[in-house]
Amino acid sequence: MFVRVSVPQKDAAPLSLAVTEWTPAMTPSLIKHLNGPDGTDVTRFLRNKVPQPYTEDDARFFIALTAANGLFTAHAIVLLDNDSNIVETIGTVGLTFKDPTDIEAHSAELGYWLSKAWWGKGIMSSVVCEYLDKVVRPLSIVPRNEQSAKLVKIIAYAIADNAGSCKVLENCGFALEGKMKQFAFKRHLVRWTAVRVLLVGLLQ
Ligand SMILES: CC(C)(COP(=O)(O)OP(=O)(O)OC[C@H]1O[C@@H](n2cnc3c(N)ncnc32)[C@H](O)[C@@H]1OP(=O)(O)O)[C@@H](O)C(=O)NCCC(=O)NCCS
Repeated sequence: MFVRVSVPQKDAAPLSLAVTEWTPAMTPSLIKHLNGPDGTDVTRFLRNKVPQPYTEDDARFFIALTAANGLFTAHAIVLLDNDSNIVETIGTVGLTFKDPTDIEAHSAELGYWLSKAWWGKGIMSSVVCEYLDKVVRPLSIVPRNEQSAKLVKIIAYAIADNAGSCKVLENCGFALEGKMKQFAFKRHLVRWTAVRVLLVGLLQ
């Protein structure tokens, strides 16, 4: 998969990006972006399955998981040069599908993060909108495999003080479904979490 994303910039040329498969060669980028003070900022609002510190074993496990065709899927966000070669891997976007045998089989949870050096340039709003259009919406027409249901509902949980993520979701058409009290225990604090949903399937 290679989904191109052009991100307009105010006083510069658009950034040329793509969403594509994670590969073992991207391991060093993953470790770099998720460690150190910047890595702490990136992971502070994420689920604990993105641990701190982030080791080489964590990176290898994650990349293998993205290729496993299980209930979790994720793609790398990469920066391209003028010849469309990958210059750097700068983030990820993915889905965790709900249990295919249970009542939420038609739903999946959206997740994403971007390297801190690239925040505030409109990247994640552009990437998530393209990802929904090119990767997620087709799954509401044709399921991924025989075990999958057609996708109807995309769920995103953003801790209420994660203003950037809440805005990305709004930019991409998500609606606030509710606020879950004491949903997340993160960094020794129990936090409110806003649930935003996007209906992509036939029932909308
Ligand atoms: C949240 C995150 C993905 C945003 O990525 P980004 O590429 O910087 O987002 P964008 O540039 O597309 O910004 C979207 C909007 O949010 C605003 N915004 C971004 N960060 C913000 C912040 N910290 N506070 C307030 N507003 C913010 C932008 O100004 C922009 O507003 P606009 O649409 O009115 O212009 C990024 O900060 C990140 O990776 N954070 C850590 C991981 C994370 O929180 N993941 C989501 C878990 S639910």
